[in-house]
Amino acid sequence: MDFTFTEEQLMIRDAARDFARNELLPGVIERDEKQKFPAEQIRKMGELGFLGMMVSPDYGGSGLDTVSYVLAMEEISKIDASASVVMSVNNSLVCWGLEHYGTEEQKQKYLPRLAKGEILGAFCLSEPEAGSDATSQKTTAIDKGDYYILNGTKNWITNGGTASIYLVIAQTDAGKKHHGINVLIVEKGMEGFEIGPKEQKLGIRGSDTHSLIFNDVKVPKENRIGEDGFGFKFAMKTLAGGRIGIASQALGIASGAYELARAYSKVRKAFGTEICNHQAIAFKLADMYTQIEAARHMVLKAAWDKDNGKDYDLSGAMAKLYASQVAMDTTIEAVQIHGGNGYVKEYHVERLMRDAKITQIYEGTSEIQKIVISRSLLKD
Ligand code: CAA
Repeated sequence: MDFTFTEEQLMIRDAARDFARNELLPGVIERDEKQKFPAEQIRKMGELGFLGMMVSPDYGGSGLDTVSYVLAMEEISKIDASASVVMSVNNSLVCWGLEHYGTEEQKQKYLPRLAKGEILGAFCLSEPEAGSDATSQKTTAIDKGDYYILNGTKNWITNGGTASIYLVIAQTDAGKKHHGINVLIVEKGMEGFEIGPKEQKLGIRGSDTHSLIFNDVKVPKENRIGEDGFGFKFAMKTLAGGRIGIASQALGIASGAYELARAYSKVRKAFGTEICNHQAIAFKLADMYTQIEAARHMVLKAAWDKDNGKDYDLSGAMAKLYASQVAMDTTIEAVQIHGGNGYVKEYHVERLMRDAKITQIYEGTSEIQKIVISRSLLKD
């Protein structure tokens, strides 16, 4: 078993770390407070290749492996999880889905601009009554021969207002249940497509989350990805990789909070000494670091599985389940170690604690991960 990273992987990790510290850290508190999208920073991330990391150079991407991607995701998420969710959705759901299942024309048309961050993509599955129960899509895509007519509402869509292309999952033939679902590429500006109000969120407040409304939107047949009825499988396969991205986001939030708590404990004095000299604090740091290392191993194992053509449904779901719990637990402890300072914005840990919660909800709640894991364990 080889636990060493390649030179290239380390270079990517260090580049992401430098970018996060130099470009994302300034202004992160204000963006969180004002729910301001990090537009300029995302543009730069695109130029540096962080938005199409795994896309083949043939389509303008960086052609890197999943291990490099999760290393970069961890570094970006330590500082700004609002930026890293944009990175995760664009890479794992939109670019990966298009590259693996799109037609040559679709790839040529959309991937180069997506991979360079010139445009952003959104993945539109969740609905008011179909977040976890993804087969119960109420959005319909009625087959009219050369085109579909799309009607319905999607909720909690990351990049909802800022994206230019939207992968929309919709029911074409309800009688066929999940075999009657399709995924269509919808472009911003198509007649009948409206962007709903921006959500007011607990965490990842710099990211742009909206509901979307489709009123008789005419979508050409050539915008369907895959065969008729492939939409649900598309969503499941894409989300399986997406969960590795969110697991690495959770890992980054946890390790960012740990690093802040460790540094603080070495300068803050109480009862005549730095607080790290009290076992009450030192033992917390020991627990946090142990859990983070375990989560890191799980995230890297899932990424390695994906890179080596192995099944990653199980390892990805386990990594997300565990890393998101670690993110929640360690950020709460980081706030505790900071005491009163942990409760105010300038110390960053309260934001990380709020940001951590979403990692237990999106791309499948923790309960959904347990469904995926237990089904995988019990099959055959
Ligand atoms: N790969 C390939 N196919 C898969 C699959 C996978 N990983 N998982 C399921 N399938 C297939 C099954 O084989 C089955 O196909 P067949 O009938 O042909 O055999 C079909 O999909 C249906 O599978 P299930 O019977 O298991 O479906 P289910 O209704 O019981 O649901 C579920 C399974 C895992 C709970 C699924 O509904 C699910 O993942 N729900 C959560 C959805 C989710 O993650 N939502 C988050 C929204 S996206 C988001 O958050 C993005 C963002 O903005 C950050």
